[in-house]
This record gives sequence, C-alpha cells and structure tokens, in this order.
Amino acid sequence: MQFFLDTANLDELRQAAAWGVISGATTNPSLVAKEGAVDFHQLIRTITGIVEGPVSAEVIATDTEGMIREGLQLAALSPHVVVKIPMTPQGMGAAKALSKEKVSTNVTLVFSPQQALLAAAAGATYVSPFVGRLDDIGEEGCGLLRNIADVFHIHSIATKIIAASVRHPAHVLEAALAGAHIVTVPFKVMKQMFNHPLTEKGLQQFILDWEGYRKSHDR
Ligand code: E4P
Repeated sequence: MQFFLDTANLDELRQAAAWGVISGATTNPSLVAKEGAVDFHQLIRTITGIVEGPVSAEVIATDTEGMIREGLQLAALSPHVVVKIPMTPQGMGAAKALSKEKVSTNVTLVFSPQQALLAAAAGATYVSPFVGRLDDIGEEGCGLLRNIADVFHIHSIATKIIAASVRHPAHVLEAALAGAHIVTVPFKVMKQMFNHPLTEKGLQQFILDWEGYRKSHDR
C-alpha cells in the first residue's frame, strides 16, 4: 500500500518527501484555496517537482467539454499529473474522453460502490472514496472501502482505490485492512502516524545509555 499526501502546501510536501514515505500527492480546490493567491498551474508544476509520483489536480468546470479542456491543460503540465474529476454524469464523460487520450484520472467525491463502479466503467485510473465525510454523517466510511475493494476484486477491475478524507491514524489502518491501494493522508495525520510514546521513551533511553557508556570509556 502507498501513501499520498493530501495537501497543496509546499512546505508540508517538502517535509513529507524528505521523510521518504510518500509516493504521490492529491489536491482539491479547497486545499489550493487555503494556500492564498497562487497561480494554480504553477503550483501543480512545483508540486510535481517535489513529489516523485502522481499528483492529482482537480478540474473546476462542471460540464464535460470544460472538464476535458481543463484536464488536457493540467495533463500538459507534467506527465505525473492525474486529472481529478467529480463523480457526476458529465464528469464520467470527461473521464472516458481523457482515458482515450491516455490521461490518468482520479474520480473524486465517491460515496458508494455503485459510483466507484461507474468511475471504473468510464476508465478512471483511480477512485477516491471519502471515508471521513461518511463517518461525519454517521455512516461507516471504511465499510465503503471494503465494499469497493471486494467488487473490484470480484470483477478484476484495475482501477486503484485511494482512501480519501482521512481524519486520523485509525482510518489509515482501516483503509489498509479494507484493501485500499493508496491512502491519501493530511500532513497532520501523517505526523501522528510516526508517534508512539514507547518509541520516544525507548530512543531517550538508548541515548542516555550510550552517553553513560561513552563517559565510562572516556575516563
Ligand atoms: C481527496 O482527494 C480529498 O482531497 C480529501 O481527502 C478530502 O478530504 P476532506 O473530507 O478532509 O476535505
């Protein structure tokens, strides 16, 4: 299973890339808007220079022709760009057209296995089921992941599942157990994943013991 970083923040992307654990990145219009007055295309180009792997950049248009046009412009920025398209009938028309042009796509805002199947039928490279937003309304987000993984397995569907809308490290484990191929993780959650009190305590003890050993041998 792979990790993508779910952010448009360059500092976060640089830090996580330096940690050596991310294989790609996902952005969306809300995440880009959080970065203030930025040139969207330049931002995506910069991200593809930081992250070694696929970088999802979302279209803003809601009509098929507009999504195809924006998608082709985004795909021209870098061979690593994945065009993110909303799960709508118009979006699936665009996904099909882009897949015929060999452009990678990520169908976003997926909340049911039926939507995931439609995305796969339209030739999507990735689907992004939103785990946290389902949990927020009292449904079981990871149940959705399991169902999509099961139906994709039964039908030998090659579309990859990106567990999205991740709120905490427990979601990451649940997504891995459910069979998601990738989890896209906010920076805060990725930092939390590194932490364990026994790791910190153990490291402090190793350092203390080593200092004691050095002192006794330096005498
Ligand atoms: C996925 O690609 C989305 O960018 C993201 O995971 C949405 O998460 P949110 O529900 O925290 O906004």
